[in-house]
Amino acid sequence: MDIVKGKQLYEGKAKKVFETNDPNLVIVDYKDDATAFNGEKKGTIHDKGIVNNKMSDFLMSLLEKEGIPTHFVKEISDRETIVKKVTIIPLEVIVRNITAGSLSKRVGKPEGIKLSVPVIEYSYKDDELGDPMVNDYHIISFGWATKEELAVIADYALKVNAFLINYLKDVGVDLVDFKLEFGKTADGTIILADEISPDTCRFWDSKTGEKLDKDRFRRNMGGEEEAYQEMFKRLGL
Ligand code: TMP
Ligand code: ASP
Repeated sequence: MDIVKGKQLYEGKAKKVFETNDPNLVIVDYKDDATAFNGEKKGTIHDKGIVNNKMSDFLMSLLEKEGIPTHFVKEISDRETIVKKVTIIPLEVIVRNITAGSLSKRVGKPEGIKLSVPVIEYSYKDDELGDPMVNDYHIISFGWATKEELAVIADYALKVNAFLINYLKDVGVDLVDFKLEFGKTADGTIILADEISPDTCRFWDSKTGEKLDKDRFRRNMGGEEEAYQEMFKRLGL
């Protein structure tokens, strides 16, 4: 069956989602819009939508081969991809390998310290509350995921981390940290959703430590367009 783009279901800060003629599939359309600090800072990064679309699709295809189920179905244009429709589990799943960002602030440690084991953190996805950090007990108590589902999510998150660390090392990039989102399909299967891109990961050049991600925008450093293009090139895209 040919998939036909239908009406817009949702517009987020960085993507729009459209229904299709298949109830189990939607189309995501990546924008160049960039926000930070819960939407307080707004801007655009030229061609970010193309980089994030293609990079997410590329990395999710590789992860599928590693046995991690994802929402990826088919890239249909520079900015649009057909993905499986899911109910998003309202958690940001953050994995960290090196101190940076909010972790450095929270514990009063400089950025750039290698963590002896990867650290998983969860935030409850709620813009009005500013995505507060929560733990396993909150997640189970409030029913955002069951104990069993959370075990699957944590296992997938650590597998994604192990795979990406190695893959990126070969292209001269240190994976500092990243954020994943998971969703449930109609039959209850948990799959990796959302995106994996310089918007949602911290990438540091292994040799120079140069930031190749959205921190350039968040911190008004300049060079964000070039950083996204550099990551695109490193992945051979
Ligand atoms: P943090 O250090 O600000 O908590 O960010 C951790 C990681 O999560 C970092 O790679 C950026 C990513 N992230 C998002 O994808 N979305 C967000 O809204 C935030 C705050 C962080
Ligand atoms: N995109 C997020 C926001 O505007 C924040 C971020 O990525 O830093 O809330």
